[in-house]
Amino acid sequence: QVIVLDFGSQYNQLIARRIREFGVYSELKSHKLTAEDIKKMSNVKGIIFSGSPNSVTQEGAFTVDPEIFNLGLPILGICYGMQLTTHMHGGTVERAEQREYGKAEITIKNNSKLFQGTPEEQVVWMSHGYHVTNLPEGFVVDASSDSCPIAAASCEERNIYLVQFHPEVQHSVHGTEMLRNFIFNVCGAQANWSMKNFIEDQVEKIRAQVGNDNVLCALSGGVDSSVVAALIHRAIGDQLTCMFVDHGLLRKGEAESVVETFDGKFNMNFIKIDAQERFLSKLKGVSDPEQKRKIIGNEFVYCFDEESAKLKDMKFLAQGTLYTDIIESGTDTAQTIKSHHNVGGLPEDMEFELIEPLNTLFKDEVRQLGLELGLPEEIVFRQPFPGPGLGIRVLGEVTEEKLEIVRDSDFILREEIKKAGLERDVWQYFTALPNIKSVGVMGDERTYDYTVVVRAVTSIDGMTSDWARIPFEVLEKISVRIVNEVAHVNRVVYDITSKPPATIEWE
Ligand code: XMP
Repeated sequence: QVIVLDFGSQYNQLIARRIREFGVYSELKSHKLTAEDIKKMSNVKGIIFSGSPNSVTQEGAFTVDPEIFNLGLPILGICYGMQLTTHMHGGTVERAEQREYGKAEITIKNNSKLFQGTPEEQVVWMSHGYHVTNLPEGFVVDASSDSCPIAAASCEERNIYLVQFHPEVQHSVHGTEMLRNFIFNVCGAQANWSMKNFIEDQVEKIRAQVGNDNVLCALSGGVDSSVVAALIHRAIGDQLTCMFVDHGLLRKGEAESVVETFDGKFNMNFIKIDAQERFLSKLKGVSDPEQKRKIIGNEFVYCFDEESAKLKDMKFLAQGTLYTDIIESGTDTAQTIKSHHNVGGLPEDMEFELIEPLNTLFKDEVRQLGLELGLPEEIVFRQPFPGPGLGIRVLGEVTEEKLEIVRDSDFILREEIKKAGLERDVWQYFTALPNIKSVGVMGDERTYDYTVVVRAVTSIDGMTSDWARIPFEVLEKISVRIVNEVAHVNRVVYDITSKPPATIEWE
């Protein structure tokens, strides 16, 4: 395996998944991992240092056990990883006169093993305010850009490679080849890992963790929780009970469709809980998005707690938490973007022990896993739907009237996307209701009513996304139908912002 040390970049887990895509196992580990810890791990072929929001010169900046450099293992330092390695070996890191975010062109100066097979001039993706101005002894410059003369460097004798840019993001055109060169030509790793191994490892791990106890699985009917349920069911069969909570924040027809899909079909214990009243009353008068997310996350667990008390002893709670949910909810090293209901929204007094077998994976990896586990395509390729549901699509305070508007407009959007055959092209599509009323004219009368936002994005893993180029004719049909068929709406707008700088959901 190749380990990635985490210094807090938003993209660090992407590095690990790129390597898994090559068929080599890779996991993200804390930067506090010591050389001794690494010696105890089996079959480590190389180490990658990730980027970070820190700068090496600031007080309390994350560092690494210096003995790691003496293990004789190949090291690839990315962005902060480059700066840290330089700093620890006596080189200089300084604030750059010009910060560099986004596209940059580099020229290769030394064709090290990392750059083999890639062109002399190429586009990479940068994101830094500091850079290396003096290399430590024994290192040579491998690549330069206009504003970053030391954009890549290496000490090939010691198998240390450093890059200021991010080869792991799609915008670095030859980034994948560089990572491939590092993994196979420098580390000499072999491609012998696949999702099948992942299933076998997890099944064993789950059995060891659970023993003879029982597991309650929070099932929403979405891709992630369905895949978790299938995986855990494979491991422990009847010790698993799936619980579906209808919190009143679901899309039109969704509760019925989940019950129809799961009740009795997969040979799993399945229970549905009606908790609409309880969630809506807790949300009354609350308009702050983070607070809403936390209330919903808390209420889910209280529901599971109360309902599971009526069943046989439930020691564990299984959730379909993905890596994206964790990184965006904030970790020791990364900032909170929003508290996902199943991570930052969990109550502190929770008694369940958690089982989260998907928490190192991205959405597209989970889909692959679902297919491998034999789940039907209708489930595996469902569009993502957030746990807090329409609670975060009605912006501000949630009321029944507003939920109705989102539900009805979303239903029309889904129908039209389906009719246009765009279901698989668009990654996620929904409507949201901002707190805006505007003036319109309908049948010669003045109206003062709500604006509905249509959001539709393309993405691979939800970490970044672009707005979907839905044909104008389809947008027109959606707009006309929403205004005509949904009461209290007189205007429809289309969100044309990518992520970043926006996020996919509005709250
Ligand atoms: P954002 O809005 O952060 O969303 O760009 C990225 C993806 O995550 C979904 N999302 C959630 N999923 N619990 C979830 O299970 C949550 O609290 C949550 N918040 C956002 C969102 O729909 C998108 O697919």
